[in-house]
Amino acid sequence: MRLFFAVNFSEREKDAIMSKISALKKICPRGNFSRRDNLHVTLAFLGEVPRERLDDVIAAAKSVKFSPFEISVGGAGNFGSVVWLGVGGKELSPLAAAVRAECGKRSIYFDAKPFSPHLTICREASFSEGSSPSALGDATLFSKRVTSFELMESTRISGVLTYKKLFSKKAE
Ligand code: 2AM
Repeated sequence: MRLFFAVNFSEREKDAIMSKISALKKICPRGNFSRRDNLHVTLAFLGEVPRERLDDVIAAAKSVKFSPFEISVGGAGNFGSVVWLGVGGKELSPLAAAVRAECGKRSIYFDAKPFSPHLTICREASFSEGSSPSALGDATLFSKRVTSFELMESTRISGVLTYKKLFSKKAE
């Protein structure tokens, strides 16, 4: 199973993100735009995990203790052809670190690339000449209270990349 941990968004928050994706489409005629249902911020990417280890992965999530906190979303940027919205808030990195630490304790592999909070809105973006993500503005789009994070499974259903919530860990 291909697994990752993520912070997810409400329908209202997704409306705001989709408005940015619509604006991006105007300056980026070609790209693999994130589907509304798939919008998230990755905390840790585990990759392929044997099904027998799912209980251990859930146990890792259960062991993470955190209090609700605020993040802000807004300001576009890119890593090469990947376009993202920035995610601010000082408590998100400690949450990602806690999730990764609990995985590490159980020898659950995760991609150890340093955490860089972002929300991918497009891959393989091809911008119109002279355009760049900065055209989307750098204002905060919304602030969000993070009250849970989820264990997600990445699958393809009829060829469509689909993320399924397997477990939700609530803030205490
Ligand atoms: P991205 O948004 O930066 O592309 C599911 O694949 C999620 O895990 C995506 O949000 C992706 O992040 C993230 N991820 C992090 N490291 C990854 C990796 N090595 N391979 C695939 N996805 C990764």
